[in-house]
Amino acid sequence: MQYILQTSVYPREHEQLKALREETMHHRWAVMSVPPDEGRLLSLLLKLMNAKKTIEVGVFTGYSLLTTALALPKDGKITAIDIDKSNYETIGRKYAQRAGVEDKIEFIESEALSVLDKLVLELKEDELFDFAFVDADKANYTNYHERLLKLVRIGGVIMYDNTLWGGSVLAPANSKVDRETDGIIRINKQLAVDPRIEISQVCIGDGVTICMRIA
Ligand SMILES: C[S@@+](CC[C@H](N)C(=O)[O-])C[C@H]1O[C@@H](n2cnc3c(N)ncnc32)[C@H](O)[C@@H]1O
Repeated sequence: MQYILQTSVYPREHEQLKALREETMHHRWAVMSVPPDEGRLLSLLLKLMNAKKTIEVGVFTGYSLLTTALALPKDGKITAIDIDKSNYETIGRKYAQRAGVEDKIEFIESEALSVLDKLVLELKEDELFDFAFVDADKANYTNYHERLLKLVRIGGVIMYDNTLWGGSVLAPANSKVDRETDGIIRINKQLAVDPRIEISQVCIGDGVTICMRIA
């Protein structure tokens, strides 16, 4: 792991991402931040797809958000949703400003499900997102999935974070697990058989599942 970080991740990490990561390290919930090797994967995927319009559920201090903002073209737009904007305001926002990408970000401070429901009603076919990154409230992943399949265009990508959930997905069937673990186990089972998507579950960070909408 150190080898990967030292060899191919840190040398390519934008200086403002590095500064954000270093400040976030002192936060008591630092573990919530997307790790930099996963950030590289996110960035590469966005560039491969020529993504322009993206949505993110779960911002915290904004490592995945700033990664996305840096990967999108100048006229790219990100709708970022978090129930609590304070960590972005006090920590992340200044790095987005310094990197010159703040104008790409529209931040909506709200619980996510109602925002997604509103977008489902409002967005027209030609306004759909190219890409979605989901990293909040694991118990609702299956609910987010149904909304995002209406909000992301065919050929677009939905990326779910934490789909290995520290290995707790290996809990024996029918054993008692908390609602977040249960949410991850349910989304993993659903994604595995969902005919509307192609998927690859990747062992990076805490596990990510990359889904391409095909129907
Ligand atoms: C794991 S952190 C996101 C980490 C972020 N992607 C990063 O790279 O730093 C999860 C975030 O989801 C937010 N959150 C939790 N429940 C939520 C909900 N129901 N709707 C929207 N945001 C929520 C939390 O406030 C927290 O900032």
